[in-house]
Amino acid sequence: MNAPAPRPNNLAPFWMPFTDNRSYKAAPRMLAAAKGMYYYTPEGQEILDGTSGLWCVNAGHGRREITEAIQKQAAELDYAPTFQMGHPLAFQAAAKVAELTPPGLDHIFFTNSGSESDDTALKVALAYQRARGQAQRVRLVGRERAYHGVGFGGLSVCGIGADRWQFGALLPYASHLPHTYIPEKNAFSRGQPAFGAERADALENLVQLYGDTIAAVIVEPMSGSTGVLPPPKGYLERLRALCTKHDILMIADEVITGFGRLGAPFAVERFGIVPDIIAMAKGLTNAAVPMGGVAVSDKVYTAIVEGMPAGIEFFHGYTYSGHPLAAAAACATIDLHRAEDLPGRAKAMEGYFEDAAHALKGLPNVIDIRNIGLVAGIELQPRPGKPTDRAVRVMQRCFDAGVLIRTTGDIIALSPPLIIEKAQVDRLFSVLAEAIHAEAA
Ligand SMILES: Cc1ncc(COP(=O)(O)O)c(C=O)c1O
Repeated sequence: MNAPAPRPNNLAPFWMPFTDNRSYKAAPRMLAAAKGMYYYTPEGQEILDGTSGLWCVNAGHGRREITEAIQKQAAELDYAPTFQMGHPLAFQAAAKVAELTPPGLDHIFFTNSGSESDDTALKVALAYQRARGQAQRVRLVGRERAYHGVGFGGLSVCGIGADRWQFGALLPYASHLPHTYIPEKNAFSRGQPAFGAERADALENLVQLYGDTIAAVIVEPMSGSTGVLPPPKGYLERLRALCTKHDILMIADEVITGFGRLGAPFAVERFGIVPDIIAMAKGLTNAAVPMGGVAVSDKVYTAIVEGMPAGIEFFHGYTYSGHPLAAAAACATIDLHRAEDLPGRAKAMEGYFEDAAHALKGLPNVIDIRNIGLVAGIELQPRPGKPTDRAVRVMQRCFDAGVLIRTTGDIIALSPPLIIEKAQVDRLFSVLAEAIHAEAA
């Protein structure tokens, strides 16, 4: 590994995303290099990655196979368009993704991010309804507390108020199902909580209100960004059945859960349901090059592609859809997933990780712990009048002690690379426990 890059001396020009720029720039935390389970600061301090970057470096950092594939591709073909043109690796990457997706979801549309994948999935749903003569189906249904990225489509079905309030009216035909967080019944559940499947039935109410104008329902199989909400037992199955009953498409937003995070290539496989569309990104390239994708069922693909008059069937795409470097990274990442059985490793570590997470029960201000796969959410009692303060300070303490965690509100979200070892799980949770203790007051 090369020496980490030095600290920059001018932080002002970079307007940082989803960041308290004023606080950050007063006391910056800087990651300058990475390898395996660790980041390194410019001064060379080792930081255990408890979050896979942003839920995306599932195979661990700096994987040689991925790096070499990108380097080779950059030297061979830097860029080629995929509008009315093609290059071999884009087709190869799509075929590899299709081998991982559930049978029948074999058509892959490439994007560059999770947000673009969600907007693309919603547009596919609308185009499908129009292609099959149901143009009145224009309503998109999301869920309270959902995160579907930052595009206007995804934001319209998003259920996190803080992400929406600055941006006006959004799409006119969007509705929301209730969230599934029921702490009075489900607090400290291990894995899927027992209560809440009936919350899927709210879709019946929306059908009563809006009749046959609903195009699609989009849900994260496990809500991540809102603070880790595993689906109640039976919830997704019920939602799938209701979508089928009312002829509504079901979109699974697997931007976080795809590529092994929950111990299966895609979470829907673990939960035993088959959606019509899957949105993905993050783990697809191990985050080495930005890339997202949308897997579409034969039914939906055929309706759009065969149903349109001759010519372009779907007026949508990005300059970088299927970018050669991203396609190379995706192929190498998927090969690595298979060779090392990363979903299998996540599954094998899940019990140990779960025990370590739930061992935090009883620490000061810990009011709930939730987990599934290699994901855990630890909810802290907010300081009176100072929401987020306790969690942010816990995060800073962990960072100072050499562990990266993530916070959302007063919830700590952990999602380490799937290659994590038991000793690293122990370190992650012992540093976190100390930090929670230190912020007890
Ligand atoms: C479920 C889900 N969908 C969409 C996104 C947006 O992805 P991106 O930040 O790559 O646009 C995220 C990001 O965390 C996500 O968790």
